[in-house]
Amino acid sequence: MNWIALVATVAAAAAIGVVRFAGNDLSGTYRPKTDAPIAPPTMPPPETFAAIFTPCAHCHEIGAGARPMAGPPLTGIIGRKAGSYPGYPYSQALRSSGLTWNDATLARFIADPQAVVPGTRMIFGGLPKGDIAALISFIKAASAAPNASAAATILSPSTLAIGGPFELIDTKGRKVTQNDLLGKPSALFFGYTNCPDVCPTTLAELTRLMKELGPDANRLNVVFVTIDPARDTAAELATYLSSFDPRIRGLTGTDAQIATIAKAYHVYYARVAGEGGNYSMDHTATVYLMNAKGGFVGTLSTEEDDRTSLAKLQRLVRAAS
Ligand code: HEC
Repeated sequence: MNWIALVATVAAAAAIGVVRFAGNDLSGTYRPKTDAPIAPPTMPPPETFAAIFTPCAHCHEIGAGARPMAGPPLTGIIGRKAGSYPGYPYSQALRSSGLTWNDATLARFIADPQAVVPGTRMIFGGLPKGDIAALISFIKAASAAPNASAAATILSPSTLAIGGPFELIDTKGRKVTQNDLLGKPSALFFGYTNCPDVCPTTLAELTRLMKELGPDANRLNVVFVTIDPARDTAAELATYLSSFDPRIRGLTGTDAQIATIAKAYHVYYARVAGEGGNYSMDHTATVYLMNAKGGFVGTLSTEEDDRTSLAKLQRLVRAAS
């Protein structure tokens, strides 16, 4: 890790003040937005410096928080209490974690958010140690720069990945693997049929969005994966999903199979005991957007309005054609 080059890069980009993250860019590629031409020597060539912040930039920006994104702005995060960026709708779990962000707490959280704050909606984790240290110094440098929204492409290849191999069954008992979703982009949502609120709300929203997408909805896989396989059999899922767009595919499997896909997508889920031996499930309620090759490109969040979500889905489908 070349720290000096890193800080110099950030400072240089800040000094010229023209580079911003394209943030939620659904094409999955980093594209600096420029107001003015960038002087060549101030930016490392993109092919030699992969953007370590790029995966984070799907959901976060380092800047003023001007655009609504899935996650809070990370500007000036050192010294801030967890879950305290004004106006951002944090999970209860993060707000009540009692954490204050410093190098150590940030490093642990970025490495494995769910282990540090069970139930946080931060689904990312698994960066190599060296990259995490570099990322933290990058965030600090970018926060300290006079124009904090300036940021740059840096560092080692990003190894963050969301998604991966799985084997499940659909509502007719047919085997479905990650390969069956390839060729079309996908929107995946994880939940369970006894879910009182967020699952029916999200499935109803997806149904509405599919209607608005019109014929484009046929060029998209919309998938509901249960994280409660003990109760959600194929038949149970079929009945439940009959209330929503018939193109939404329900997937279930064994405990181990569900654990595998949840791990691949960084989905948190846990049983919460209720009355009379009953239980509910805590779970990640993010809709994952994947491209036609199975690569993660972004999320839909229940906090954003339908118009934003529709635009994201339209971009996702268009990018695939
Ligand atoms: C798919 C979306 C997504 C991605 C990608 C993502 N995050 Fe997050 N992040 C979130 C959400 C949502 C929260 C809010 C969590 C909550 O409320 O529990 C969050 C919270 C955080 C927080 C706590 C912020 C605070 O104000 O307390 C930090 C730090 C953070 N993320 C760092 C990162 C870093 C670094 C990366 C890239 C390695 C990253 N995140 C990638 C969605 C994401």
